[in-house]
Formats: sequence, C-alpha cells, structure tokens
Amino acid sequence: MSSWTAHPAFDGHEDLIEVGDDALGFAGLVAIHSTALGPSAGGVRIWTYANEADVLTDVLRLSRGMTYKNAMADLPLGGGKAVLYKMGPDRAACFEKFGAQIDAIGGRYITAEDVGATGPDMAAVSRSTKYVAGVPKADGDGAGGDPSPWTGLGVFLTIEALLGGSVSGRTIAVQGAGAVGFDLCERLAGAGAKLIAADINAERVARAKALGAEIVPVERIHAAAADLFAPCALGAGLNTRTIPELAAPIICGAANNQLETEEDGARLAARGIVYAPDYVVNAGGIINVSAEYLGETEAAVDKRVRAIPGRVLRVLETAKREGVTPHQAADSIVRARLAEARHA
Ligand code: NAI
Repeated sequence: MSSWTAHPAFDGHEDLIEVGDDALGFAGLVAIHSTALGPSAGGVRIWTYANEADVLTDVLRLSRGMTYKNAMADLPLGGGKAVLYKMGPDRAACFEKFGAQIDAIGGRYITAEDVGATGPDMAAVSRSTKYVAGVPKADGDGAGGDPSPWTGLGVFLTIEALLGGSVSGRTIAVQGAGAVGFDLCERLAGAGAKLIAADINAERVARAKALGAEIVPVERIHAAAADLFAPCALGAGLNTRTIPELAAPIICGAANNQLETEEDGARLAARGIVYAPDYVVNAGGIINVSAEYLGETEAAVDKRVRAIPGRVLRVLETAKREGVTPHQAADSIVRARLAEARHA
C-alpha cells in the first residue's frame, strides 16, 4: 500500500494501517482521514471485494465521509473507517486480534459496527481495546444500543420541519421499510401522514401495509405523487434515470450516498427539487453510537438529534444564498469547520 497517497480517493488522509493475521485468516485496512476535531470514528465493514484497489477506494471514501458526517453533527470526533476484506473461520478470535491492532493505534481510531459486523463482534473487539462503541449492554446503562430509532427520529423531525412543522394530511413516499424506513413510517403514520411505501422484501411490505401505507412497485416509488420522497433503502437512488421522474418537490431520507454522482445534486436543483443532504439528515445513528463512547446520556443524544432539522434548514439557506447545491453547501460548512480546528 506504499502508493496509497496517489490513489484518486486520497484526500489528505492522515494514515492508512494494515490489519489482519495470516494464521487467523483475516485481513483489512484502517483509514484515518482526519483527527482535527477529535479521535477518528467510524465502523468496521466486512465485505468481499474484486481486488485490492477496490478495498482502498472504499476505505478512503468511507473514512472521509465519516469526517464530514461527524463534523456536521457537531461531534468531537474525526473520521475513520475499517474494512475487513477477508474473515477467518474463528470469528471471535479474529475480532479479538483486530481489537488488539486497534488498541495499538493508540486511540486515534475508534471502531463500531458497520455493514457485515454485529454486536457480538464488537464485544470480541472490546476484550482487547477500549476504543470501540456499539458493544451490546444491559438496558438502562447509558446511551447505546440500536441506532435505527435515533436515525428515524432525526429523519422524521427534519421532514416535519421541511413541511412547515407538521406532516398531518401530507403524503410521504418511503423507499425501503427496513430498520430506519419502518421506524419512520410508524412515526409518520402516528403523526397523521398518508404513506406510500415500497420494499423488495414481502414481509417488510406487509408491515408497511398494516400501517395503512399504499404499496407501489419498487421501481416506481421515486415517481410516486407525494409531498416528500424519503429514500431509506440503498444508496445511489438519485441518478439520471430517476431524477427526471421524481414527482415530489422535496427529498429527505436516511439512505447513505443518495446521489449517484455529484452532478445529480445539480440535476435536482435544476428541477427545483429541494434535497436535504443525506449525511446531515441521517446523523442520529452515529450520534447514538458516539454517545456511548463519549459516555453521554440518552438525554444528550436526544438533544443532539433534535438539532438536526435546524442544521438542515441552515444548509438549505446557505445553498440558496450562495447558488450552490445543498450537498456542496454542507461540504463547504464542514471544510470551514475543519480548517478552523486545524488553525486552533
Ligand atoms: P435495512 O437493511 O434495515 O433496510 C433497508 C431496506 O431497504 C430493507 O427492508 C430492504 O429490503 C429495502 N430495499 C433494498 N433495496 C430496495 C429497493 N431497491 N427498493 C425498495 N426497498 C429496498 O437498513 P437500515 O438500517 O434501515 O438503513 C437504511 C439506509 O439508511 C441505508 O442506506 C443505511 O446505510 C442508512 N443509514 C442507516 C442508519 C441506521 O441507524 N440504521 C444510520 C445512517 C444511515
């Protein structure tokens, strides 16, 4: 990995560390993008890649994304990420060793669950290091636990704010009724909104239907006639194919990386569609996970999550004032905050 600083996804990252153990059969990378605002924090992803270059691309992009998400959420944390592209047969032993390797980084990187990792994996990591969050614990023991309801709350409050304070009688199209999407559907239905929903999973469709949602095919949900479209499935759903067909004037959802490319932000703006940048809206999960590490209470998490709608509105105002897309406005707010921290 000697040439990693020449990689197209390199963006002034502070460090790249190889982790793994041949005997245990696991291998991965930890990227530290920035510690300007505090120790770098971001989950560990377990994934299979076509080649080493793809691993590097993912870990560099994801760690940078964490810097932006954490900074925007006003957390005293930088951005980092781990990717394990090979997992050995004795999973617990691999994660214990991974924990020891995280420990050796000396607190510059704090790990947590991401795609492919579980609570028991984090418990194994915690046997070798204190630099981990998302370890399952008994109820009532401070902040922590499932981040999805906090993500759902942040998205719901932001939707309310974008619709002028109430969702009652308004129609919301929700793409994906998974952990966050269904939590959001419950909150919206409880507040009197009309729901349109789609999911590739029949059980999840059924539970959305039980809430009174009108169900549409997955390939048409983005085009549903609604006051607001909430992408809560996978990323890259806003692209050259879907943007011309969008019927809702506002987009606000939980999915990560909703814009397929940077230009899609401009395409939405050209259509006059208001786009609430994903990483500003969906910070509830990381706020909850980091509170566990920071030793904060559930009340502190609630306060931080309730600050999300105001932040989204400020980003949208900045975008309008400066004639840039909301995503560009959010990024420049973060870059200014990082520059200030480095200066201090
Ligand atoms: P999940 O896996 O529980 O839910 C995703 C749902 O989307 C599933 O029900 C799946 O069947 C459905 N789905 C997949 N492809 C679809 C398609 N083409 N059309 C319609 N539905 C489709 O995941 P979760 O945790 O609810 O996360 C949803 C999104 O929010 C992801 O992009 C995730 O990265 C993001 N996110 C989640 C956070 C959390 O706290 N769980 C925090 C921040 C972001």
